[in-house]
Amino acid sequence: MRPHHIERVLFPEDVIARRVEELAAEIARATPDPDLCVIGILRGSFVFLADLIRCSHRHGLRPRLDFMLLHSYGGGTVSSGEIRVLRDIDLDVRGRDTLIVDDILDTGRTLAFAAARARERGAARVRTCVLLDKPARRAVPITADFVAFPCPDEFVVGYGLDYDSLYRDLPWIAAVTFTDDTRDSTAIAAARSPSEVPP
Ligand code: IMP
Ligand code: MG
Repeated sequence: MRPHHIERVLFPEDVIARRVEELAAEIARATPDPDLCVIGILRGSFVFLADLIRCSHRHGLRPRLDFMLLHSYGGGTVSSGEIRVLRDIDLDVRGRDTLIVDDILDTGRTLAFAAARARERGAARVRTCVLLDKPARRAVPITADFVAFPCPDEFVVGYGLDYDSLYRDLPWIAAVTFTDDTRDSTAIAAARSPSEVPP
């Protein structure tokens, strides 16, 4: 783990709660059959998913839930490019409307892999939903059907997202500032206090 600190909150708790409620309503409007299969990608999606399904209940959805445990990151901040399946879909999705839920869409490999797996299993329609969409480093051409927030090209933690298994418990989403990266910390200092930075 690189030296870092976490102090810049990008999405506070109340902003997340309001947006998740809206997103659940969007999903419900676009899902006439309430009998939906929802597949959460572990581990990052568990906090978002727990809130999303309770909000979606208020909008009439009655999902069957399952999880996949996929690994793409090792312990660092850069995707390894290879997806390992540690737990596969167990629920029978054949002929069913299926929604894949993940924390963040980055290179796109994880979500594309999970969507392909649901199709292989015979799902009638596969749609995707992510808390954050970080389009800057997309390696696979994939667009999520439902997105809570667009996300800047920074490593973020909290509300289920981790750095080396830490910070999933933060109720908000914050950017990680790596203190061994001089270029980044100068840029961040400039963004925080423009008046103190020489022209
Ligand atoms: P992708 O396969 O590159 O799209 O990456 C998706 C997975 O990488 C997510 O499910 C996250 O677990 C992880 N990930 C990508 N970006 C971040 C980040 O900024 N913070 C924490 N995890 C991330
Ligand atoms: Mg994840």
